[in-house]
Amino acid sequence: MLPAHFKCHFPMLLDVPDKCGGANKSAQVFLLLVIKSYPMNYEHREVLRKTWAKERLHNGVRIERIFISGATGSHVEKERKNRLLELEQNEYNDNLQWDFRDTFYNLTLKQVLLLEWMERNCPKARFLLNGDDVFANTDNMVEYLQGLRDNDGSKHLFTGHLIQNAGPIRSPGSKYYVPVQVQESESYPPYCGGGGFLLSGYSAMVIYNMSKSIPFIPIDDVYMGMCLAKAGLGPVSHMGVRTAGMYIPSGTLDDYDPCYYKEILLVQRFLPGYMYLMWQRIHDPDLKCELSKTSVYSIKL
Ligand SMILES: *[C@@H]1O[C@H](CO)[C@@H](O)[C@H](O)[C@H]1NC(C)=O
Ligand SMILES: *[C@@H]1O[C@H](CO)[C@@H](O)[C@H](O)[C@H]1NC(C)=O
Ligand SMILES: *[C@@H]1O[C@H](CO)[C@@H](O)[C@H](O)[C@H]1NC(C)=O
Repeated sequence: MLPAHFKCHFPMLLDVPDKCGGANKSAQVFLLLVIKSYPMNYEHREVLRKTWAKERLHNGVRIERIFISGATGSHVEKERKNRLLELEQNEYNDNLQWDFRDTFYNLTLKQVLLLEWMERNCPKARFLLNGDDVFANTDNMVEYLQGLRDNDGSKHLFTGHLIQNAGPIRSPGSKYYVPVQVQESESYPPYCGGGGFLLSGYSAMVIYNMSKSIPFIPIDDVYMGMCLAKAGLGPVSHMGVRTAGMYIPSGTLDDYDPCYYKEILLVQRFLPGYMYLMWQRIHDPDLKCELSKTSVYSIKL
């Protein structure tokens, strides 16, 4: 468990300071994809690079990608895993790695280190997708964000699968256990499930500023909600973010029918192979979808 006010500086093992073209030019990045990873998650990184996290222009705006990791394992093992990331770095230049123990309970630390990196290297990026190895329809995301009244990232935006009226779990056996000493209050502010959420560059910097005075709790998505609440802001729900699962009518022949996935923004994870298959299928120009499938979720983009 992280002690309260656990704030240290952790050296970076891998950095890409010019990912956004330098701080001054970072406004040219429309959507920065920030994907939580672990050094050994090689297959997921590979498939994401080929699919929804491909760096590209879409609808005239730039999408960039970074994976964020810590370090794990004993001395020799850690070295070996770090060498894997270094190899990938030579080829793709898309890994940020810090020298801290990369565990579930350090996800908040990882998140805040990322925000600190953003302030330094990419402060003007318009929007961020913060997620893990979910399936994201990043084309739809860009179109949704471009359609907002304030689409330059300078206003508050924080949206995803909204969770309200939740509170700390007090049973020590649970993965989500938070002792009273760490968080006294019995309720959490509203937050978005950590599988994936969208936020503006402005909101990212607000959260970073707030994090300097809020003790860490080990649950990173709740922590984001706490930072927003302290700034007098909150998250909102987006119907297209389905990290809690998606309703597909029973009797459907194919759970992986691309028509169910064409209009969403984000769903829970698939196996890497299915991720690749689905990305190809939703981009098939010949794909014909009955309205009854896509309109079940009819998301106003
Ligand atoms: C970025 O812009 C600021 C203010 O315009 C300027 O002082 C600074 O030198 C610039 N930095 C780089 C690296 O160009
Ligand atoms: C978090 O990382 C720090 C620095 O590596 C480490 O000392 C601590 O044990 C980690 N915490 C957990 C819960 O893994
Ligand atoms: C964050 O804090 C810095 C330094 O105090 C300030 O310049 C900046 O405007 C703040 N950003 C936001 C979005 O509140």
